[in-house]
Amino acid sequence: MPNRTPLTRFLIEAERAGQINPELRLLIEVVARACKSISYAISKGALGGVLGDAGASNVQGEAQKKLDVLSNEILLEANAWGGHLAGIASEEMDEPHPIPDAYPKGNFLLLFDPLDGSSNIDVNVSVGTIFSVLRCPDGVTTPETSHFLQPGSQQVCAGYTVYGPSTVLVLTVGHGTHTFTLDRETGSFILTQRDLRIPADAQEYAINASNARHWDAPVRRYIDDLLAGKAGPRGKDFNTRWVASMVADVHRIMTRGGTFMYPVDAKCRDKGGRLRLLYEANPMAFLVEQAGGAASTGTQRMLDVVPTGLHMRIPVILGSKNEVAEYERYLREG
Ligand code: F6P
Ligand code: MN
Repeated sequence: MPNRTPLTRFLIEAERAGQINPELRLLIEVVARACKSISYAISKGALGGVLGDAGASNVQGEAQKKLDVLSNEILLEANAWGGHLAGIASEEMDEPHPIPDAYPKGNFLLLFDPLDGSSNIDVNVSVGTIFSVLRCPDGVTTPETSHFLQPGSQQVCAGYTVYGPSTVLVLTVGHGTHTFTLDRETGSFILTQRDLRIPADAQEYAINASNARHWDAPVRRYIDDLLAGKAGPRGKDFNTRWVASMVADVHRIMTRGGTFMYPVDAKCRDKGGRLRLLYEANPMAFLVEQAGGAASTGTQRMLDVVPTGLHMRIPVILGSKNEVAEYERYLREG
């Protein structure tokens, strides 16, 4: 088929342009291959015997699904032996996962949420994988938690997949955000949109409205003004969309704009928020900024936050940049 750019070709061209080195190219290829395996496992559904609870909890106290565990294992196994990594951190593991001694070590740190959207796993609704790549500090061969605690602005690569009606991979290495679609006939990710651009203004927003009674006053005021529509202070009608898989909600925003919010509220204040900084908020923030959007805690640019723990949680607003700025204004004004 003419004019198709598979991921491999895209990455070789990025390497020739000096945007990535061979080690990062290998890393991305390996993660993409692992995501393909996850995609195939998910698509088997009940026929693959992969639905349901694993019978254990992760470090965050969340019940693990069989597919959470399987996706984590697929990503760990795929990334162990290539020689491109110094260490791995995952939502599903308390501590960083060392590269087995049998294999050479590389210079990168890989962080991931192996399967985002837990509540949708068993009900045939889109879920996904989110990943972030950092450099391992010079001279460190066995990275510890502290070495992973870098602000998101230090990421060299970030991406997510959505396992939906089609499987897509959305990727940045700091030179725009690009979408690849899995061609199940050839097994290749094919470039289907170069340089995504998120519209500056939003018509849609995503928030879990069942938390409304827990929201802080400025968040409530902001949402009330959106709900008031054309007749209200915003002078415009907004639509709500909430998939409850961050990957799917963010992918909609990547495709046609809007915002996604998970504010800190009375229910999750003791934890600092709902979503995790290092492998959920930061990679999405990098991808969104590279697509011309904005990502914030509500009071600070997400990528400037200095992490204090591997599984640190953070309030999130991201998407169309004018709307993110508007939300920040409500929070500033209190
Ligand atoms: O990983 C966390 C996550 O599953 C996100 O994908 C999603 O946005 C959020 O949790 C939904 O959480 P809740 O159902 O508690 O609002
Ligand atoms: Mn998640």
